[in-house]
Amino acid sequence: MLNTRFTELVGCSIPIQQAGMGGLANPQLAAAVASAGAQGMVSVAGLPTDLLAGILDNLRKETSGVFGCNFLIPFVGEEHREAVAVAASRSRVIDFFWGEPDSSLVQIVHSGGALACWQVGSKTEAVKAAEAGCDLIVAQGIEAGGHIRGRIGLLALLSEVLEAVEVPVIAAGGIGSGRAMAAALATGASAVRIGTRFAAAAEAGAHPVYVKALIKAAPEDTVYTEAFGANWPNAPHRVLRSSLEAAQAFPDDIVGVATNIYTNQKRPIRRFDAFAATALFTGHVEAMPHWAGESVVGVKRLQPAAEIIRELSGEAEDLLRRWC
Ligand SMILES: Cc1cc2nc3c(=O)[nH]c(=O)nc-3n(C[C@H](O)[C@H](O)[C@H](O)COP(=O)(O)O)c2cc1C
Repeated sequence: MLNTRFTELVGCSIPIQQAGMGGLANPQLAAAVASAGAQGMVSVAGLPTDLLAGILDNLRKETSGVFGCNFLIPFVGEEHREAVAVAASRSRVIDFFWGEPDSSLVQIVHSGGALACWQVGSKTEAVKAAEAGCDLIVAQGIEAGGHIRGRIGLLALLSEVLEAVEVPVIAAGGIGSGRAMAAALATGASAVRIGTRFAAAAEAGAHPVYVKALIKAAPEDTVYTEAFGANWPNAPHRVLRSSLEAAQAFPDDIVGVATNIYTNQKRPIRRFDAFAATALFTGHVEAMPHWAGESVVGVKRLQPAAEIIRELSGEAEDLLRRWC
């Protein structure tokens, strides 16, 4: 087994952390990942506290494994601090992304009894996260899918961050195979964060049009852009070029309708809005962002999350044994 500082601290058996991924990082996916021995994650930013508490209490009944909650800082206002406390009292890890590391949020997490995790894109930001009291730091390279804080490649970033902080570092971006996972662990990362591979997990419930595009795509088919910024401007991200071109060519302002996975509430999706298309979305899904990292190379078919975890960790373990 791949025991690392991450598995010891977090309490799971496999050094894989599932990424927060909007509506795709739902309780079914988190439960499947946690039950398979890795760390699951639910994206919870913006949920009312009573709904959030119910979701996490149900999730605890579904799995005895380890799960966390992901908060996107641009969507965490003062009114959401209570939600962070509620999440921290019910999950092992509270994960933040896209904002200046904030020691007051870290304190709320610690008071609730959870570990604080911050995804960063530079050495400077990693040092700030450590100074804010974070227990785990995710170093995100520019190869990543979804929104990208990193401006440089993962290996260069890991080299810098691992020298600069003491806490366990999780490698994120472009890791779609056991070989890439082994390479990240060999640099000294304590775990890997996986997004794109889990977007094509059966439990994520991604829209079939999106899954089909992921299966077909190669790393060269991804593009780094700020185009899908209608509801979240000035935030670079990586998507499949085909979805960007479809959005650019789309003639109307509204591309479809989204249904919230928890409330069933419907809302129109504007051209260039940043949402992850679940199977509940209708309309021109091909013109909605198809978030994808260079790790898309590893997406060959729709798979159960447990199979993805077995594949990645099994191959990584074999390779590390052979190399050592
Ligand atoms: C579909 C998708 C949605 C994402 N949404 C979020 C999110 O809501 N919060 C977050 O912290 N990171 C999000 N990310 C970025 C991940 O945290 C992570 O950095 C990235 O997935 C790692 O690269 P990979 O996709 O190559 O595995 C998302 C990534 C993807 C692929």
